[in-house]
Amino acid sequence: MPVRQASAEDIGAIMAIERSAHFHPWPEAVIRRYVSKPETVWVLEDQGAVIAWAANTLIAGEAELLMIAVDPQWQGKGAGRQLMNFLQAHLQARHAEQWFLDVRESNHRAVALYESMGFCEAGRRTDYYPTASGHEDALLYCLDLSE
Ligand SMILES: CC(C)(COP(=O)(O)OP(=O)(O)OC[C@H]1O[C@@H](n2cnc3c(N)ncnc32)[C@H](O)[C@@H]1OP(=O)(O)O)[C@@H](O)C(=O)NCCC(=O)NCCS
Repeated sequence: MPVRQASAEDIGAIMAIERSAHFHPWPEAVIRRYVSKPETVWVLEDQGAVIAWAANTLIAGEAELLMIAVDPQWQGKGAGRQLMNFLQAHLQARHAEQWFLDVRESNHRAVALYESMGFCEAGRRTDYYPTASGHEDALLYCLDLSE
């Protein structure tokens, strides 16, 4: 399945994934702003349909995964890992040194994916994310890309 940079024409498909995959989807205006930046928003396609997307920044050797989401119908079938592997190879080709992300403590599926790639827990933001009944912690993860 190919990965490519997103364009403004993908925003509808990205929003559809956001609405179905998240408790708190990203606002369209935020996604639109990131899509306008080069090498920041990526989509994974299956037969021309967008089934996953990710937003990632790279500034002065430090990369940050801002978001990754897979269409719920496609979750658990390798799409998330494929997109992350693509991003890792892209970031290493751009000589990124560190790759950071944060994740809800309860998101065991995402944590399993990140840890299987070698990400290590680097910190915690207490009560960072809203939930239906209050707040939960964000776990900060880091992967050294320079090795
Ligand atoms: C988290 C997410 C991106 C993972 O993508 P995915 O395509 O579902 O995951 P994959 O099929 O590529 O699986 C990758 C790894 O995730 C873990 N995983 C996948 N499904 C899992 C499950 N049901 N339970 C536990 N771990 C699971 C495994 O480690 C798996 O590796 P393996 O197949 O080699 O065992 C995706 O499920 C998603 O979009 N979730 C909703 C949005 C979200 O939580 N985004 C992350 C925000 S930080």
